[in-house]
Amino acid sequence: MMSNERLRVGIIQSNPHLLDIEKSCRDLTPQLAALANDGAQLVVMPELASSGYCFKNKDQLDSVSETNDGKGPFLSWIKAKAAEHDFAIVTGYPEKAANAEVFNSAALIDRHGVIGNYRKLHLFNHEKELFTPGDLGVPVFDYAGVKIAILICFDWAFPEVWRSAALAGAEIIAHPANLVLPWAQTACQGHALCNRTFIATANRVGCEKSWRDNQQITFTGGSQLLNTEAQQLISGPTDACWQQLAEINLTAARDKSIKQYNDLFSDRRPDCY
Ligand code: ACM
Repeated sequence: MMSNERLRVGIIQSNPHLLDIEKSCRDLTPQLAALANDGAQLVVMPELASSGYCFKNKDQLDSVSETNDGKGPFLSWIKAKAAEHDFAIVTGYPEKAANAEVFNSAALIDRHGVIGNYRKLHLFNHEKELFTPGDLGVPVFDYAGVKIAILICFDWAFPEVWRSAALAGAEIIAHPANLVLPWAQTACQGHALCNRTFIATANRVGCEKSWRDNQQITFTGGSQLLNTEAQQLISGPTDACWQQLAEINLTAARDKSIKQYNDLFSDRRPDCY
């Protein structure tokens, strides 16, 4: 049963199998069960958690992409796991859309199916050769009274979207990631602090061969759950699969005041910038 103040948030740091949804699900199964055992109510998983990241071409990407209605192989499996464990899940997946477009997306899902979907706005590096840039803005979803936004990986570099989510009421921002650069965790601390939101970054670990130059790409782990004062409530290792949860009190994200005369939202000067 969810209160709309306290929320037990779990993060999964996994190592998805490139082009193999079944194997990726097999590895996620005990991680989801462990978080259920600890009483998780919301679980955040990495970007492209079903499929891996380094697709050599559009055909490969197409072979593992699925529609956002929750009827494809991965999202239907996620829905069944959400029902089995009685929690909601935010997970990244490649989304097949109309006109052969594929978005780098993440969905919020519970036992009833897909509650919300976000399409990555800021594509990283060679992603631009394969994915269509997101076109759904920065939606905020109401889940049992909790306001949840989703941003994906390289969105970390654009403060505008974190502010937009917060201004639209987001209390927690789920951040599925496949990070390769070392700066996101620090940037997200700034986003949490300046917007007074909780942030759950679920990164992946492992290596894949880059689709263009065959170089090894290493994903950097270090998943983290931040509170509204930018403190790490939990944080993962840099080189291993991991899952953990912490309970947060959402009332901290509903108060934007800093001092008697300062409020992070009402003190903004959009007339000047
Ligand atoms: C990234 O946006 N996956 C680095």
